[in-house]
Parts: sequence; structure tokens; C-alpha cells
Amino acid sequence: MDQDVKSMGATSSNPREKHEALGEDSLPQPVQQRNVLQEKQKGLFYRFYLRLCEVAIVLSIVLSAISIFSEREESSLQRLRGHFSCSKAGQDYKITYIAIPGFFKQDKSSADPDKIGPAPDRFGLIDHHKHYWTNFDKKIQKLNKKSDSDTSYKVLFLGRHGEGFHNVGMDYYGQDEWDRKWGRKNGNGTITWGPDAQLTDRGVAQAERVHSLWQKELTRGGGIPLPTAFFVSPLIRALHTFQITFAGIVDDPEPLIIENLRDSYGLRTADLRHNKTWIREQYPTYRFEDGFTEQDELWMKDERETDEHTEKRVRGVLDKILTIEDTYLAIVAHSKVVEATFNITKHQDFDVPTGGMAVDVSAPNPSR
Ligand SMILES: *[C@@H]1O[C@H](CO)[C@@H](O)[C@H](O)[C@H]1NC(C)=O
Ligand SMILES: *[C@@H]1O[C@H](CO)[C@@H](O)[C@H](O)[C@H]1NC(C)=O
Ligand SMILES: *[C@@H]1O[C@H](CO)[C@@H](O)[C@H](O)[C@H]1NC(C)=O
Repeated sequence: MDQDVKSMGATSSNPREKHEALGEDSLPQPVQQRNVLQEKQKGLFYRFYLRLCEVAIVLSIVLSAISIFSEREESSLQRLRGHFSCSKAGQDYKITYIAIPGFFKQDKSSADPDKIGPAPDRFGLIDHHKHYWTNFDKKIQKLNKKSDSDTSYKVLFLGRHGEGFHNVGMDYYGQDEWDRKWGRKNGNGTITWGPDAQLTDRGVAQAERVHSLWQKELTRGGGIPLPTAFFVSPLIRALHTFQITFAGIVDDPEPLIIENLRDSYGLRTADLRHNKTWIREQYPTYRFEDGFTEQDELWMKDERETDEHTEKRVRGVLDKILTIEDTYLAIVAHSKVVEATFNITKHQDFDVPTGGMAVDVSAPNPSR
């Protein structure tokens, strides 16, 4: 079993170095080589850049939109982006997020996950008038129409994977024993949770419940607005949950697999991912973000990633995906990723249960 872990090539001889290498800037760095496309685009964007620092958000909308929908162009544009670090008064330009409360039960300070459950009717939307989804969509459109050019409102469907074998193991042994001993192993002889924990039957049923909810809400309240951009963690429990959730809801959702949407990593074998070839074989229609490595290069055998680090990398993902044009987006990932997203968008704390989905209405807004 240990052999398995090794063959996935994820152990690092110097975990700390890898950990730090990810650091501030896990986004691709600028490179020296240039091609024609890059030069052309550079000229174009450079003019924008020189004109007004304030357009940075618009710029990143353009760049991100292209980077999501065209893999080939992404790399040069991503590199290009590295050349622009917009700053004013010596400070870095940063996007801030603010969650807009009042739409969903989950964003009330009194929200109780046990009472609300993982997949409440209307996904927790408070409005229950006849055309509740139509009303909701109108409100979001109105917010976007009224907002200044620097601000846009996004609706993020945030899914947590269904129960995995590691969840069962951790409940059984308790977190201390899990991190001290059991979580480091691949299983206990009865069940297997590593590498890359799979969904249990209960986890599959949980994902099916969210799928049914989507189906139901499509025919109710005027019809739930469907996401038009999809993102998923590369871990199998999230990929599988995604597949079940959106089967038949959206034709070929072709989600983008993003490394930094993965669960907190290190120590626990459940969080060590499969290689890219294997993932591609299992999910042939899913796309990979540019630069997705064949082997898991982040997982560390003896060290667990900190929450601060998770938050930093999730922020990097949000900065990219919340600045594309789409208003309705869906992510299927992990509790830590949902938690980090809530922290970053200053959303009310809400512990989304396994196999749950919550909606975060947020406005990315650049600030200095
Ligand atoms: C392994 O763990 C499962 C639950 O996680 C438990 O039901 C089972 O008894 C354990 N097996 C052994 C051999 O301890
Ligand atoms: C990818 O993983 C699979 C299954 O774990 C393994 O059989 C295969 O050899 C691996 N391929 C590479 C290129 O690492
Ligand atoms: C989210 O914020 C809470 C409270 O500040 C903190 O304890 C937790 O570590 C943060 N989690 C993540 C994943 O950033």
C-alpha cells in the first residue's frame, strides 16, 4: 500500500521547500521566451495598462475569460499577466470580495447547518413567492446594471463532495488518532481511504440528492438560473460528486479542473491525488487548467498544509474565476475550500455538510 503512494510520485524529498515554493505566487510566472501572439497581445494590453491603472479589473476580466475558454492562449496570456503588476501609491492592486447577505438562509448569522441540511429546498433561497428564481435572477441583473464598472455581482454555487471513505475513517478514529496514525495509512484492512479517497455509497446518494434538487428547481419558481462556468477539484471525491450532480442538468458541463481547488493537503493519504493521465481517462470530457502537472507535486508526506495557505491559494482561484464575465458559476470541492471562500468573501460562517451545496452571492471589487 505504501508502494502505491510512492508510485504516484508525490512524495517530496524536501517538503518544506515545495510548501514555500507554492507560496505567494502559485500562478504561472512570467517567462523570458516570447512568441508572436504574446508580443501582439502585449502591445495591445500595454496601451491599456499605461492609460489607466483603474481598468485592471476590466483587464483581468478579459484575460480570465480568455484563459478559461482557450487553453492554448491561456499560457501566453497568463505569462503576460505576470508583466503587469498594477500599483498605485506603491501598493499592490487587489480585488476585495464582499458577500451580499439576505438571499439565502445560509447567510444569516443564526444559520444552523443541522437544521438547514445539505440540500434544502430552493438551495436555501428565502424568497418562496411563485416566481422565486425569476425574481432572484432579476435582482442579480439589477444589481449588476446599477453597479459601477469596477464591481460585478456573482452567484457562486459551492458544492462540497459527498461522504468519502476518509470521512468515515476520521469519524471512527477521531481527528487526533487520524493525524497521528490512521490517516497516514491507506486503509485499515476493512476499508480503503487512500490514496485519493473515493465516495462511499452514502456519498453517492448525497450527490444524487443534490442532483435531484437541481432537477426540481429547474421546474420551479420560474426555473433556477443554471451556472455557465464550472470548476472542480482534481480529487476523485469531488470529480465524482460533480459528475453525479450535473448529469443531465447541463449538457456537457466540461468543468475546468483546478489544482488549487483541492482539499488541504499533506500527511493524509486521502488528499493525495491521482496523476493527470488517470484523471483524464476517468473523466475524458473534463478540461485541465493550463500547467496542471502529471503528478501530484504538492502533497507532503510529513506536513499538513495550514489554513492560511489554503486561503491564499483559494483567493488566487477566486481572483481568476470571479473576474470572468459569467454571473452564475459552480464549484464542486471540499469543506476547506468552501470555508476559505466564505472567509475571503466575508460570508457568514456556515459549515456545509458533506454532499451539501450553498450559494454565495458576492461582489468582487478592486481596492487599493
Ligand atoms: C476500519 O474502519 C471502519 C470504519 O472506519 C470500521 O468499521 C472497521 O471496523 C475498521 N476495521 C478494523 C480492522 O479496525
Ligand atoms: C498514473 O496512475 C495510474 C494508476 O494509479 C498508474 O497505473 C499509471 O502508471 C500512472 N501513470 C503515470 C504516468 O504516472
Ligand atoms: C477561516 O476563518 C476562521 C476564523 O478566522 C479561521 O479559524 C479558519 O482557519 C479560516 N479557514 C480557512 C480555510 O482559511
